[in-house]
Amino acid sequence: MSVADEIKSKIDIVDFISNTVNLRKTGKNYTGFCPFHQNTKTPSFVVFPDTQTWRCFGACADGGDIFSFVMKQEGYEFKEAIQALAKQAGITLTTPELGHDEQDTHYQKLLELTAAAAAYFHHLLTHSPAGALARTYLAKREVTAETIATFQLGFALNEWDALKNHFLKRGYSADELLATGLIVERDNGSPGYDRFRDRLIIPIRDGRGRVIGFGARALQAEQVPKYLNSPQTVLFDKSKTLYGLDLARKHIRDADQVIIVEGYMDVIQAHQRGARNVVAQMGTALTEQQLQLLKRTTGNFVLALDADTAGNAATLRGLNLARETLDRETVPVPTAWGLIRYEGRLEADIRIASLPPGRDPDDILKEGLAAWQKIIDEAVPVIDFYFQAATAELNLTSAKGKSIAVQKLMPVLRDIGNSVEQEHYVQKLARLIHIDERTLMTELKTNRKPGKKRQQPPQPVGPDLSKIQKKAPAAPSVEINGDAGLEAYCLSLILAHPFALVMSSDILEQQKITGLNANDFKRGDHKEIFKSLQLWTAAESPRIETLTEMVGETLEGRLATLATLWHRRPPAPAETAFRDLSIAILRLRLQNVVQQIEELQFMLREAEDNHETEEARRYRAMIATCSEQRRQLHDVSDALSLTGKRRAESKASL
Ligand code: UTP
Ligand code: MN
Repeated sequence: MSVADEIKSKIDIVDFISNTVNLRKTGKNYTGFCPFHQNTKTPSFVVFPDTQTWRCFGACADGGDIFSFVMKQEGYEFKEAIQALAKQAGITLTTPELGHDEQDTHYQKLLELTAAAAAYFHHLLTHSPAGALARTYLAKREVTAETIATFQLGFALNEWDALKNHFLKRGYSADELLATGLIVERDNGSPGYDRFRDRLIIPIRDGRGRVIGFGARALQAEQVPKYLNSPQTVLFDKSKTLYGLDLARKHIRDADQVIIVEGYMDVIQAHQRGARNVVAQMGTALTEQQLQLLKRTTGNFVLALDADTAGNAATLRGLNLARETLDRETVPVPTAWGLIRYEGRLEADIRIASLPPGRDPDDILKEGLAAWQKIIDEAVPVIDFYFQAATAELNLTSAKGKSIAVQKLMPVLRDIGNSVEQEHYVQKLARLIHIDERTLMTELKTNRKPGKKRQQPPQPVGPDLSKIQKKAPAAPSVEINGDAGLEAYCLSLILAHPFALVMSSDILEQQKITGLNANDFKRGDHKEIFKSLQLWTAAESPRIETLTEMVGETLEGRLATLATLWHRRPPAPAETAFRDLSIAILRLRLQNVVQQIEELQFMLREAEDNHETEEARRYRAMIATCSEQRRQLHDVSDALSLTGKRRAESKASL
């Protein structure tokens, strides 16, 4: 039995969810208010003991097993959900990779040290005479005492070894102080000195609120740099951290939107002023990992960039460079162009809010929430932003200007996954430069950059799955016909034919059906694997090693099992893989809709028995919507299977 199964056998989903959600028994199921969306009057959240699943029939329209619940509730990855639930179930994770960081006492000790250091700095700020200047500074910046406490802001003394001595005395070693980046090693290797001196200290926490590093702001004009940050350590990885996420997550979920700003102080001020769905990137460019972290909570991103950054070539000038990198790597770099690609892959909506020149969110928030909200509301989709930026300095009436605009924008247009959107922007470009739209369309379809393979016929050879197949458990437990069989089938198809994913989305979109997305998967592990697959398939030539790395050790076994499905069943030939996948997606959706209808019918009966007419009406309407969906899915699925057959027949008759 896998750890996941063992957890499921030990923790009952009803017991588990009742810890945080008030559930009422209705018939054999349990209902309550959905913990994931701002609540309505009616309890739309249902837990089904029989299937050990949950579902929200309200705004979220999401559901799944106990793992998906924890992942959604805590913003955890599957691995973290396993760790948390295993602990609760009293299961010791024996595989070292599962528990590694958590059980590692060294790691724990370092976390203890950073937490203690945050408290130490905070105490100095709030109580020491030397902290007076920093207190005045914060008062001048209109940071309240409450905010200072919430963010546990601190102060570092203007001394070389105050912190070092303080913690050496308390039993921490110089090595530990070095490992957390709190002290800096001298060149001769002798124990170092305090990294942060005479600065305002801003503890940086991970998504779970654990202090992993520090930002330290200069208090005097002559101090450089303005911000000194913890170095990369075992605890602190800038590229995977967003400042303020621990406090913002709940608000991000409620607003179904996250605002990403550039500065620590912007987050702090935003929070104080009541704009709480705000996090900061970490002084470096926004990374893919950061976006992915946020994607667990919302798909709506607004990047509030100061005028410099927004106009800054950093997001745009590197275009060609970015494209080259992208061709080599799995993970898109979020230049404007990278963001556009990312947006399509992850069904994210990315907007850019440009701040007035010379102002940052901090200043604007001080004017009041309304001024801030206005800027956020006026954010433009990243593609429009890119259009503006790329054409700002061109003379679009000249032949030269037009041709540069086409050169700059065409590659971006080609990368828009959604064909309706693509057409929209082709039109936009056509209007901008007064060129016939059809000319551009032809240009779009013909002059592809050599080597770009997206949206071209499927690749004859998929990745070499044999590398991972070896790691599958002896008796693969995936059954194609089982409950999660269709989920597994879709995943295994994508594994064998990565290009099928984007092509299936194209096919489905033509039928006005959205492509496969994470919500289609009810099993937490499948959901997680699918998210990795989405990114992985964006690569030019997806390699299995990169995927294994992306899914991580916890899910590697599952991935291997999925890859071995093809041991017993020959893989679909490449040229039909995308159609097989489209059909499998439709079947999976059908299966989910049918189940949902059953659940709704149950809810309806309950409501009728209890004479809750309003409720009953709502469920009837939902059943009608689901039935309509079911019909549409049937139709499209029939149509697709038919064209497939016809094509096969016409081939045979040749
Ligand atoms: P800003 O200078 O815009 O930060 O840099 P800010 O928070 O608005 O600063 P003040 O306090 O209001 O003047 C944005 C972010 O870039 C990083 C920090 O993360 C900062 O919050 N940064 C900036 C550094 O890491 N080092 C620096 O020297 C400057
Ligand atoms: Mn600022």
